[in-house]
Amino acid sequence: MRKKYMIGNWKLNQTVASINEFLDSFKQKKYTFTPMIAPQFIHLYQCINNVDTPFEFGSQTVSHFDKGAYTGEVSAYFLKDINAKFSLIGHSERRTLLYESEKLFHKKIKSCLSEDLQVVYCVGETLKQREEGKTLEIIQEQLQKALIEISVSNSDQIIIAYEPVWAIGTGKTATPQEANEVHQFINQKMAEIFPTFGKNISIIYGGSVKPTNIEELLQQDFIDGALVGGASLKADDFNLLCEAVDKYLEKA
Ligand code: PGA
Repeated sequence: MRKKYMIGNWKLNQTVASINEFLDSFKQKKYTFTPMIAPQFIHLYQCINNVDTPFEFGSQTVSHFDKGAYTGEVSAYFLKDINAKFSLIGHSERRTLLYESEKLFHKKIKSCLSEDLQVVYCVGETLKQREEGKTLEIIQEQLQKALIEISVSNSDQIIIAYEPVWAIGTGKTATPQEANEVHQFINQKMAEIFPTFGKNISIIYGGSVKPTNIEELLQQDFIDGALVGGASLKADDFNLLCEAVDKYLEKA
């Protein structure tokens, strides 16, 4: 069985005060699963040590180095030390704005797994690539190059986030059916790359997910939750998104 997830990606947003307010409003909340949030590095420790929230916290990126003379880097080793649980890797903003490549993602994935941090590896095509009919080819390349010779011992160690670049922060969402087609393809690829349990690796969707479209997305056979940017910044919206996953799990 593939697990369901709801992951907030706060990107370069939130302050110490706005985070305290956000987390305070979740103090009484209980969900049947554990929603996850990726704040900026500088807020991680604050989030993790804010007790009684229903969340697990992780980072938006991670260094491919371990420790030592690497000015400005934050590595999996130190994320583990403060009890972070996961890291996003390969977000399209890192690919395009920071020129990060699959070769680098491969190293980052290895480094997270060696520290027992869950990996949320993001893939997705640009609008041009979709219009040229290259979506599946691009996704396959992004998966293969980053995951080659990665060894994992169970399906919980990696989550794949499919985020069509043209749908991120634009208000445009892939239709649930369009997304599901790509998710099904990723599911097949996971089974090829990790023959023993690849079929059980969760695949979540990202790109303008909000309370109004989450239910339809969750109804798709191969969509196991969402990676949410904008709508994860507002406590009310993020709560509705988490409740939608709960509702889905109740019926399942
Ligand atoms: P969005 O961002 O929900 O604001 O489109 C998603 C993401 O970039 O992970």
